[in-house]
Amino acid sequence: MKSIVILISGRGSNMESLLQAVADGALPVRVAAVLANRPDAKGLATATAAGVATRVVDHKLFASREAFDAALAAAIDSFSPDLVVLAGFMRILSDGFVGHFAGRLINIHPSLLPAFPGLHTHQRALDEGVRVHGCTVHFVTPALDHGPIIVQAAVPVVDGDDAARLAARVLAQEHRVYPLAVRWFAEGRLQLCDGKVVCAAPQDGGSALISPGGV
Ligand code: GAR
Repeated sequence: MKSIVILISGRGSNMESLLQAVADGALPVRVAAVLANRPDAKGLATATAAGVATRVVDHKLFASREAFDAALAAAIDSFSPDLVVLAGFMRILSDGFVGHFAGRLINIHPSLLPAFPGLHTHQRALDEGVRVHGCTVHFVTPALDHGPIIVQAAVPVVDGDDAARLAARVLAQEHRVYPLAVRWFAEGRLQLCDGKVVCAAPQDGGSALISPGGV
């Protein structure tokens, strides 16, 4: 069975959805550890309660991004994971770190990339007046919130939405697609072709584009 390490910075609801999918038997991976860059990350307690090992690599204790990334990479490598899963991990990662984990490092981002990389995605979507918003799971490349897309989920933007309402609607889809993307990886179904992900032979009606209709 493939093993994963999950990286968080805060609340950890995406991490929790992955742990729940494992507990439900819907995600055939072993969660080797949850790592955080902040000692006060709320998700650490959730992981501990679920019986998962945790580590903190506090970025504030390092003089440079490279030094932090080297310590983080060493902490991850100590668990020898097949896949590193960024789940609300809010640090820009150096080229060296991304290169070290190339092809086995994935991220979830709360927008339909390539639209709205970076922060405050929901407010920016509202400000632009887009009618469709969503989330993206992608392989990580050195560019911020960029890389071959594994799966996206779209939600409608509804009249009267504010950023909190829209964020909640998107988050519900994040919790749905991240376990799916990790499962596809674990089953060896994700292949890269010309810099794009090809999801090989879905056996469950899944596809690389999910467009739930409900609000
Ligand atoms: C999620 O919405 C995730 O997509 C986002 O942070 C939130 C973390 O929530 N990630 C990014 O913005 C990365 N660029 P969580 O801690 O409850 O999973």
